[in-house]
Amino acid sequence: MTTTPPFTPPAPPAASPEERFQSLIGAGEKIEPRDWMPDAYRNTMIRQIAQHAHSEVIGQQPEGNWITRAPTLVRKAILIAKVQDEAGHGLYLYSAAETLGVSRHELTEMLHAGRQKYSSIFNYPTLTWADIGCIGWLVDGAAITNQVMLSRTSYGPYARAMVKICKEESFHQRQGYEIMLALVKGTEAQRAMAQDALNRWWWPSLVMFGPPDTDSPHTPESVAWGIKLETNDELRQRFIDTTVPQADHLGLTIPDAELRWNEERGHYDFGPIDWDDFWRVIRGDGPCNRERMAHKLAAWNEGAWVREAAQAHAAKRAARAAAPTPVSDSPVSDSPAGVQR
Ligand code: 3HC
Repeated sequence: MTTTPPFTPPAPPAASPEERFQSLIGAGEKIEPRDWMPDAYRNTMIRQIAQHAHSEVIGQQPEGNWITRAPTLVRKAILIAKVQDEAGHGLYLYSAAETLGVSRHELTEMLHAGRQKYSSIFNYPTLTWADIGCIGWLVDGAAITNQVMLSRTSYGPYARAMVKICKEESFHQRQGYEIMLALVKGTEAQRAMAQDALNRWWWPSLVMFGPPDTDSPHTPESVAWGIKLETNDELRQRFIDTTVPQADHLGLTIPDAELRWNEERGHYDFGPIDWDDFWRVIRGDGPCNRERMAHKLAAWNEGAWVREAAQAHAAKRAARAAAPTPVSDSPVSDSPAGVQR
């Protein structure tokens, strides 16, 4: 008697790297460093993560300016911790960028050479203590709106870095709002200081989300690749909708005569944004661009001896580890006699 062998379906043709990449994106799964990815995806991720990392690092400057002048010891301790958090965020992000095959050193040099950017928002001065409140409330608030979305972005190491960063940014946003609350409950002069800071930070915070979708060259591809799950305009609208009631609660006035609730759209309408000013700032001509870069370069140059010392130490350790272990008849201990380690 003959038996029919079990039917084995023919193996499907092996998916090409492009097909595998697209199917991971389509299924909402993460792209990991080991995965094949198109060069343009890799370059976009390097550009965006590096710009984000540089923003965290340069972003320490406007706030660092107030560490010595914070009004109380508690405020000073909180501000020091916040500025330190920003440095940490920069380091996570440089590490995420390094998984794409570029070193932190190379990225830093590209920033210094003007070949990479940092966020426009850090080119404005911090004139009063209320500016520190506005940076937390508005700047960190805008950053979180964007970064909660990025915690679901398609590149795994970037998405995972965002999870921890967002938790810390939420604390930053609350401490900023709490500074504003304290000021509006204070004297007439303190309330005026809070209003003045809001007047100066409102519009620069709105442009943090990038140009309008119609003028955003990277948005279509970034949406198709799951890098951006929402567009610049969608996130900007969400930020406005969330922030207007917070300003109302503070009793402050947002400096936009056209701002009003649109029942039909279910969103706030707002006045025109000065995009010429945005482009001027990101091209290097904002109020503090030169000062920020000069400070960054000075810190980099002054830290050269630390980097050299760390490299010399690492080279010595590597040479010691590579040297053959000396063979001896009698065991030699480097412990002082009679001391057990
Ligand atoms: N500041 C500086 N440059 C900006 C910018 C801004 N606010 N918004 C857009 N740009 C630049 C883009 O980098 C791009 O430059 P390129 O043409 O030279 O490549 C150009 O303007 C066109 O903009 P696109 O909208 O096409 O660019 P993207 O798709 O990259 O979108 C973005 C811009 C929304 C900022 C996006 O890059 C992003 O989500 N980045 C990650 C988040 C980030 O960098 N946040 C910075 C603030 S972090 C922070 O504030 C720290 C916290 O502690 C407060």
